[in-house]
Amino acid sequence: MNKYFGLVIIFFAVFILIASVLKERSQGFAIYASNQRLNYILTNHQALHSYIENIQKPVIYRLKSEKKLYEDFFDPKVLSFTYIARNIHTIESAILKESNESLKYYKLASLNPRNQLNRANEFEKTLIEQFNSKKLKEEYKEIIEENGTQYLLFIKPVTANQPSCMKCHGDPKDAPKELVTQYGDKNGFYEKLHFIRAIISIKIPLQKELDVAKRYYNIVLLIVFLALLLIYLIIYVFMQKIDKKNETLERLANIDQLTGCYNRRSFHKDLTQSIKMCEDGGLHALSLATFDIDHFKSFNDRYGHPTGDKILEDIVALVKKIQSPRERLYRVGGEEFMVIYHNTTLEKAIGSCQEIQKSLKEYQIHGENITLSFGVCQYQPQDDYSLLYKKVDNALYLAKENGRDTIEQCNNY
Ligand code: HEC
Repeated sequence: MNKYFGLVIIFFAVFILIASVLKERSQGFAIYASNQRLNYILTNHQALHSYIENIQKPVIYRLKSEKKLYEDFFDPKVLSFTYIARNIHTIESAILKESNESLKYYKLASLNPRNQLNRANEFEKTLIEQFNSKKLKEEYKEIIEENGTQYLLFIKPVTANQPSCMKCHGDPKDAPKELVTQYGDKNGFYEKLHFIRAIISIKIPLQKELDVAKRYYNIVLLIVFLALLLIYLIIYVFMQKIDKKNETLERLANIDQLTGCYNRRSFHKDLTQSIKMCEDGGLHALSLATFDIDHFKSFNDRYGHPTGDKILEDIVALVKKIQSPRERLYRVGGEEFMVIYHNTTLEKAIGSCQEIQKSLKEYQIHGENITLSFGVCQYQPQDDYSLLYKKVDNALYLAKENGRDTIEQCNNY
């Protein structure tokens, strides 16, 4: 279970990492989208400026020079770019508002405005000063927050006053009469050459772009989450399969193919462990028995291997039937078996061997009885694996010497 939990932690960490990267990227996307919109607005603005200065105004000046229009004519509706631009932006905003589109804010801000709508606030004033003192160059861009809404704010200076501007922004005496009649002879006059008299400020709400980005963010995050979950499940299922397979392999590796009892490999492991348990006080007694089938070779020779195998299988089945949970049977060689007894004294182990002997009395194959020879031993504190093995083997040898079908216990020297 533990390694699965570790996997969950790893996946969770990966998810958080991806989520935070995505969040940052999605905000970046909103800012990128607003910048695109800003570029579009600026291009439009420039195109409008170029149209008015290079196409529209020359027509009016031509009409004046051809005397088809009187010399003092002045109407900002056709002759002031700033007037036209502001009005186009106002109309545009109204349309955007009506169709529920994201608004944009446009303002021309001046220290000495001719039209009071263009008066700069404190922030704009400092920016105009900074552009004039060259502290700021070309443009100013910032993400700002107003009343809980984020905006992309873009500010750039208008062209600095040129000689051509001075006609209308220098001395009022030089200005078209109708201009002075409409605007008076103070506001927007007495400007200095090369001074930047105003800034264009464009403010774009980021909310709509942020909302779109957030929607994508949520969808992508959900997909990432599901993908991670799927990967996790796949790994989980595979790990479980592997675990199960390992378990089966482990079990198979410890089992004797023919008889289904434990094998030599597992005997070695179990006896080593049992001795250790004795030393640690985990077992209060440990006994070991070995037995083999008397004249097994002769059965094989006379009736063939299938009969030999059948005898082995039957003996294992018989022992398993009368075995207590404290003992375990191993086939360690051809017709050689071992029994490990936990918490069992020598006497009890011998008793258990006698049981086996007794129940074999009723067993016959090809009309013949089978007998076993036993060697039994109890673990003594100085014993180790090979010593104990040797002792029990000696006892078995003694049983064979003494005419077979007997149980001999080892003498503890
Ligand atoms: C033919 C006259 C005329 C000329 C030439 C002229 N302007 Fe203007 N300017 C105006 C009028 C009129 C307004 C006010 C329009 C309005 O109502 O918004 C104005 C407004 C402005 C404003 C907006 C701020 C304010 O004062 O209201 C700026 C900025 C500006 N002019 C810059 C310039 C620059 C720079 C030049 C030279 C490249 C220039 N103008 C040349 C007539 C002129």
